[in-house]
Parts: sequence; C-alpha cells; structure tokens
Amino acid sequence: MSENVENVLRMENVTMQFGGVVAVSNLSLEVNRGEIVALIGPNGAGKTTAFNCVTGVYQPTNGRIEFMGQTIVRNHPSGKMAKEYLGENAKRYTTDYDGLDDPDTLAALAELDAKCAAEAAAAEDAVVRQLDAEKDEEKRKALYAGAEAKKAEIESAYAQPRAELLNRLNERAADRIELVRSMDPYAMTNRVFAPTPDKITYLGIARTFQNIRLFSALSVLDNVLIAKHMRAKQNVFSATLRLNRKEERRMREEAVALLEEQNLAHLKDEIAGSLPYGIQRRLEIARALATNPKLLLLDEPAAGMNPQETQELGEYIVKLRREHDLTILMIEHHMDLVMQFSDRIYVIDFGKLISAGTPDVVKADKRVIDAYLGVVE
Ligand SMILES: Nc1ncnc2c1ncn2[C@@H]1O[C@H](COP(=O)(O)OP(=O)(O)O)[C@@H](O)[C@H]1O
Ligand SMILES: [Mg+2]
Repeated sequence: MSENVENVLRMENVTMQFGGVVAVSNLSLEVNRGEIVALIGPNGAGKTTAFNCVTGVYQPTNGRIEFMGQTIVRNHPSGKMAKEYLGENAKRYTTDYDGLDDPDTLAALAELDAKCAAEAAAAEDAVVRQLDAEKDEEKRKALYAGAEAKKAEIESAYAQPRAELLNRLNERAADRIELVRSMDPYAMTNRVFAPTPDKITYLGIARTFQNIRLFSALSVLDNVLIAKHMRAKQNVFSATLRLNRKEERRMREEAVALLEEQNLAHLKDEIAGSLPYGIQRRLEIARALATNPKLLLLDEPAAGMNPQETQELGEYIVKLRREHDLTILMIEHHMDLVMQFSDRIYVIDFGKLISAGTPDVVKADKRVIDAYLGVVE
C-alpha cells in the first residue's frame, strides 16, 4: 500500500447495544480509497448493524465514524454504556464538535437575532394597535402592507452584521464548512452530531440491503429515477423540489445511461418485482450508484445467487470500482467471492473483531476457522 492512502471510512470503537444485546462491540476498522473490503462473520455477528451505524440508521451507543477524514457520527457515553466506557474513552468522546464551536460568535449571533426579532415584533405590535381602531378595509390593507415592508426593512438592516458573524463561523470551520452547510446547522453548536440516512447518502455513502428494497411495482427506470431525485432533493436548500423540464430530461438521460452501463437498459420498462432475483440485486446496485457515491456498502449482494451468478457479480464489483472510482465495503457469506475479490477482510463474531487482513491471512487464522469458516459450506 502506498503511503498516501486516502482513508475513506474509519470506524473507531463503535459499539451498538440494543437493550441487553451488544450487537457491535468496540469495533474499529478502516477502508481506504479504491479498496474492496469484506466484512464477514456468522449470522447475528453484527455485520448489518455495523452498516446501520455508518448509514445513520442507528446512532451507535458509543464510538466515532469518519468518512473522507471528516467525523460523521460521534456519540458519547450515556446511561449504562457510560459506566462501561467512561474509563477508557472518557477523553475521546466529548459532546464538543471539534473546531466548529465558537461560543462568542454564536452568542453574538443569538443576540443579534433576538434584537432583530424584538424590533420586528415591536413594529408589528404598533400596526396591530392601529388595526384595532381601523375599520376601513382599504386602510387596513395599507396598514398590513406597511407592516410587512417595515419588517423586511428591519431584517435587511440586520442582514449585513449577521452575514459577518456567519462568515466568522465559516472561517473557523473552513475545512468543514461544506459538510456543515449541507448537513446540519446544529453541527456548529455543541450538540452530538447524528446525521440521518438521507444526509449520509448526500455525503457520498450508498448501500444495498440484505433484503432487497426496490419499488417492486414500479419500472426499472423509475426505480433509478427515484434514487436520482432523492439525491437532487438534497442539493437544494429548500424542502420542496420542483425540477424544470430540462433537469427532468437530464436526469432521465443519466438514469438510462446508468442502466446501459449495467446492461440493464433493455429491461428499463419492466416491473422491478417481476425480474429474476439476480437482476433485482443488480438493479439495487444501480440505484445505489444513482446517488453518485464515493463509498458503496453492499449487504450480502450475492445472497441467493448460484456459483456462476456469484462469480459474475464479483467481476461486476471490480468493474464498478474501476469505472466509478469507488471504494467498497461488502458483507458476504460466499467465501469464493470474498477470497477472490477482496483486498482485505475483517471478521467479526458476537460483535467483536476476531481477525483482519488479506484473504490469505484470514483464511489461515485459527480463530476464524473455529468461529466461522469451519461451519461454512
Ligand atoms: N434493531 C434491533 N433491535 C434489537 N436487536 C437487534 C436489532 N438489530 C440487530 N439486533 C441484534 O443484533 C445482533 C446482530 O444482528 P445483525 O447485525 O443483523 O447480524 P448479521 O448481519 O451479522 O447477521 C443480533 O443478535 C440481532 O438480533
Ligand atoms: Mg445481516
């Protein structure tokens, strides 16, 4: 491995506890740019749960997750886990979102906003008092209009100092500002940062599911288009999305191009649910690619496939990595696929890492043979 390996995903001491079950226990792993890494282990080992922590489905009980060098998930010990982890990791897991906190500027911003709101409210009150006494409809309308104009005037008077304060915050967080803007305004405060799955997708992590999740009553093309729309929605800062016709057409073309590339174009009008299982799995990958990910998480992509389909899938994954500049972390039970196509493997059992390394190293590891490989077909 070269020295300037770019780290794409890093999980640090991630723990996920459900009631009494510790599904993932102090798991640390990393995936570097361009790697195909496998996460393997017996059923119930915690593999899917680990994915769910990365993709924002669960907030881990403890630990930290970095994507492209930026912290995307960080939790601090609370409740029962606090006692367990306080000693070892007390320093590491604080509620501060490092680098982004600037209490003085945040306080100034809050003060400014409060002043602006108070002035606007006073202006409005003044008008309301006049409205109470005014019966003439035209004059009432004029009063309303005047009140709106006055409020706009007050707000615009505050716009400049407000922008300056925001800039000061932005400068402090220059390296993260893109992340902050796109994800979560609260990241600038000292709240625990817990992004939701849509934000994780927006950042560049896409996944497929152990149990296929397609819109089975919709066409193949619609399935890809919907994924594209979800991505576009995150690109604009308003909750509503109205695409103009040009954008709509562009998205359609991109979706068709994606399907062509995956050799699925001839099936674009087929109903997704009617397709053979292997094809549905590939459509799920196409959907994931529609969001332009940097990291692709595949949860048992070969489940239910015969040996030939499995081999083809492996080759397909290698091709995807090359053509989309992707980094891949996959959960798999097909050992032929794992051993042939992974650069490195992590093995977990009962939520804990029991081995890691190249396929040859892992294959020969007695702990792995005892816990897992010994029982695989
Ligand atoms: N949402 C949940 N609530 C409670 N227990 C869960 C939940 N998700 C997973 N588990 C438990 O966590 C353990 C690991 O499950 P999972 O991550 O699905 O394993 P794997 O994908 O390796 O087969 C299992 O014991 C499972 O029952
Ligand atoms: Mg699973």
